[in-house]
Amino acid sequence: MKILITGGAGYIGSHTLIELSNAGYKFVVFDNLSNSSKKSIKRVEKIIKTPIFFEEGDVRDKKALNKVFKKYKKWFAECNKNGKIKAGFPFNHGRYVWLGGKEI
Ligand SMILES: NC(=O)c1ccc[n+]([C@@H]2O[C@H](COP(=O)([O-])OP(=O)(O)OC[C@H]3O[C@@H](n4cnc5c(N)ncnc54)[C@H](O)[C@@H]3O)[C@@H](O)[C@H]2O)c1
Repeated sequence: MKILITGGAGYIGSHTLIELSNAGYKFVVFDNLSNSSKKSIKRVEKIIKTPIFFEEGDVRDKKALNKVFKKYKKWFAECNKNGKIKAGFPFNHGRYVWLGGKEI
């Protein structure tokens, strides 16, 4: 299973990537680069010695998110409001996922 890390090119996000990688997790980074750049991703790749799956986009853009979920659908699981993992995609249960501070 992979984890979608929104804002993963930022300060907290990039440190999170290193810790997740050290703990053996796989992830996809989704960031609109409004306050960061791909340089940060490149630096983390060097540190963790692994290529990072990066997708540029805004978490408020449902279409862009759906594209990412579709692209990586084999790797994501879905979580319901109670935190229970709910298998199955495509991403048509958006109401269960909190992103960008909004229920979408
Ligand atoms: N050296 C330091 O100690 C240092 C350096 C930087 C930041 N900080 C602190 O860290 C905190 C901020 O860190 P952070 O990681 O939360 O912020 P950040 O701005 O570094 O990271 C947020 C990331 O989210 C992305 N983003 C923003 N809106 C988005 C959207 N709508 N869709 C997709 N991506 C989006 C940005 O491009 C960025 O990469 C602050 O408290 C700051 O003072 C400390």
